[in-house]
Amino acid sequence: MCGIVGYVGQKTAKPILLDGLSRLEYRGYDSAGFALNSGGKFTVQRNAGPVQELIDASTHMGLSEKIGIAHTRWATHGVPNELNAHPHRAGQIVLVHNGIIENYSQIKTRLISAGVEFHSQTDTEVFAQLIEYHRKRSEGTPEEALIHAIETAMAEVEGHYAILLLSLDVPGKIFGVQFGAPLVASQLKDGCVIASDIQAIIPYSNQVSFLPKGEILVAAEGKFEVRDPKTKKFHSVKTETIDWSADKVEKNGYESFMLKEIFQQPMVVADTLSGRLPTTEESNFIWDNLEAHRELWKNVQHVYLIACGTSYHAAMTAEYFFEKWAKLECRVDIASEFRYRNPVFQPNTVVGVISQSGETADTLAALHLAKEAGLPTFSICNVPNSTIARESGLQYPTKAGPEIGVASTKAFTAQLTVLSALALDVAHLRGHPQLTSFRDLARLPFDLDKVLSQSETYLKIGETLKDKRIILFVGRGTMYPIALEGALKFKELTYLPAEGFAAGELKHGPIAYIDPQVSIITLAPKDEWYAKTISNMEEIRARGGHIITLGTDGDTEIKKVSHEFISLPESAWGTQPILAAIPLQLLAYGCAKALGRNIDKPRNLAKSVTVE
Ligand code: G6P
Repeated sequence: MCGIVGYVGQKTAKPILLDGLSRLEYRGYDSAGFALNSGGKFTVQRNAGPVQELIDASTHMGLSEKIGIAHTRWATHGVPNELNAHPHRAGQIVLVHNGIIENYSQIKTRLISAGVEFHSQTDTEVFAQLIEYHRKRSEGTPEEALIHAIETAMAEVEGHYAILLLSLDVPGKIFGVQFGAPLVASQLKDGCVIASDIQAIIPYSNQVSFLPKGEILVAAEGKFEVRDPKTKKFHSVKTETIDWSADKVEKNGYESFMLKEIFQQPMVVADTLSGRLPTTEESNFIWDNLEAHRELWKNVQHVYLIACGTSYHAAMTAEYFFEKWAKLECRVDIASEFRYRNPVFQPNTVVGVISQSGETADTLAALHLAKEAGLPTFSICNVPNSTIARESGLQYPTKAGPEIGVASTKAFTAQLTVLSALALDVAHLRGHPQLTSFRDLARLPFDLDKVLSQSETYLKIGETLKDKRIILFVGRGTMYPIALEGALKFKELTYLPAEGFAAGELKHGPIAYIDPQVSIITLAPKDEWYAKTISNMEEIRARGGHIITLGTDGDTEIKKVSHEFISLPESAWGTQPILAAIPLQLLAYGCAKALGRNIDKPRNLAKSVTVE
């Protein structure tokens, strides 16, 4: 969702800000803008629509200014138009914001009765006007008054947010604060760059500082510092090295980021497993933090896995792994439901949260709930040092590298890889070693390569789905969550109706709408439910449904009941879900491409859902 960039230094700010916004486009947005301090006045440009429109509209502006802030907005309060786009001006200040101010309406009413005029429908303008209101009434130097005003406003607003602001009174500095939505800063040779995520910083430096919650940032050309609200003293923030490089966020010759990410999957799985697989029956998976890992799982009797979207489907798949291999009770929940239910926890429960971005608001809230209940927690995140990763008790990172396509692909297979290694390892710790399954994981990158070698076939079949009334994805066992994921990918990319169902549930609903205009993607590798899935397929066929099957290579029996057949390499039960995910990603891709959809940035969706 919303993205923030700021720059102060010796270079011209505008190109850095616009490049940063382009790199943050993947988060999802519908308008964009920037503000530069042009010496005694602000130069502001805002546009509804793509960052490119902002670039085109501002070619004659900002040719010399060395300080500015910029923003991509994903509309929450107020329609996505120019007036509601950030930055928002309030008197002497201009502000950009990521997050939500929950009590904005009460504050707005109060400010209106104090004579403040509003120009937009946003909660952001309320925050800006509130800071300006207090700034005018604060004492001290212009900088002291501004900091006091930000602190006073922070005490009044409810919600979570990250802001950056410029003030005409303090011309060479950027101010900001993060309160539950991240801000990352980096000191460069010629200045300082600040952003809502590392993608906008990585072209300039891999040395970054994650700003602490609630401490006000003051960034100038030569240094940035934060102010501890208790001691009122400024201090520097620890620098961390990020293992991502700028070329990892380029398309490298692929027509889209998503296609690149789909093809990276064999490498991603290999990287995630590299140097960590056990070699003998006595040894375990080699996690980075082995002692803490053993301690965490020592007495566990119940595991809760919480996530949203694609990550939730990875969690659902892992439920089968934990139960079958580790003989451990596993419950899985959608974060937005879990956080508002009143979950009852048994003793010896561990809570795991799964999130590609590590910033999803509901998943973060679920993590907080588990921590407040005093439970040990762990996370499986892809973005290093993300909020969820930092706040969870133990981290099992996926090593997928930056994922730019909004629809998650390589992060999903990396999550499944980590989850299967974790379940196997916990099985081992609980006295149920499953060494052959570790060996199956080791050959996974080769099998993924085999699957990808048929990519053209999947893309072509995908194209044929564009005229169908509805696409139904079905499977049993671990193929059920993969069917849900196939349907999700299809909806995200094509905007067409698609649903995922457990094959055994077909008779309880979807069978009513089966006709030749419905395509049924059946996931039926040779597993213990194979025969039952075939009878479900017969039932669909009898009603005229068009069946596309994903089955095991060489399976002639299943071909007879299918209109089209996609073969998967023969593989073990634990690796089938990872292999089956790939053709489904490419089916959705092929169909979306035929429909002319925006593959990397499907409409209305956001990569990082930072509001609930
Ligand atoms: C959004 C993204 C999905 C993602 C979901 C959960 O909907 O578009 O790709 O699966 O959020 O995100 P997370 O970062 O927590 O995995």
